[in-house]
Amino acid sequence: MWTLPKPNSPRLGCAPRRYDAPMVHIIPASFAHVKLLAALQNTSFPEDPWPETALAPLLIAPTGFGLLAVNNSPIGFALARVIVDEAEIISLGIVPTARRQGYARAILLGLIEQCRLRGAATLFLEVAAHNEPAKALYRAQGFLETGKRLRYYPNGDDALLMRSPLQPEATPQRYWLSKP
Ligand SMILES: CC(C)(COP(=O)(O)OP(=O)(O)OC[C@H]1O[C@@H](n2cnc3c(N)ncnc32)[C@H](O)[C@@H]1OP(=O)(O)O)[C@@H](O)C(=O)NCCC(=O)NCCS
Repeated sequence: MWTLPKPNSPRLGCAPRRYDAPMVHIIPASFAHVKLLAALQNTSFPEDPWPETALAPLLIAPTGFGLLAVNNSPIGFALARVIVDEAEIISLGIVPTARRQGYARAILLGLIEQCRLRGAATLFLEVAAHNEPAKALYRAQGFLETGKRLRYYPNGDDALLMRSPLQPEATPQRYWLSKP
């Protein structure tokens, strides 16, 4: 059972879905949403399910944070951590039924903004070398491939390292169009 974020959760912003679709809300996730985040993680990555016990430490640590994309119901999530001036995307996913509508771009832009506000100057991530949708998403926001980790994933797939600077001028576009 998914738990919706509390109604009084602060809304970080919203972005338009493309075409004639309604808005999506990008809101902060906390430890209270660990079940929901695990459900979203496991729906987005059925081949690499994470238990709640793997997600909880990320949400409890002062360095970690999460975001949810909500459009009536939660349809996506992002998890990241910021250590001094470097940020890392731990995971990001959109449920299969909501893909190709701009939600990943919206939550990525929200994550970039939050990392920058937390003092990060660069943002990096690992992505499966064959994950073309994810690579296209990150490339479109200015991430460059900076390395490869051979057989990084449990199934033997290689990971690409991607990195982007986070200077204010590097944020490609504002994603919040209306204030909470
Ligand atoms: C990768 C993923 C997050 C993209 O989510 P999404 O909501 O469908 O992406 P968006 O609609 O916001 O697309 C933004 C951009 O990403 C790229 N993109 C997304 N899906 C794509 C696809 N199937 N093929 C090619 N490019 C794609 C495009 O550049 C797109 O911009 P465009 O529509 O203007 O061409 C989603 O497919 C997913 O959750 N996959 C499983 C989990 C995963 O791989 N996460 C990333 C691992 S780090």
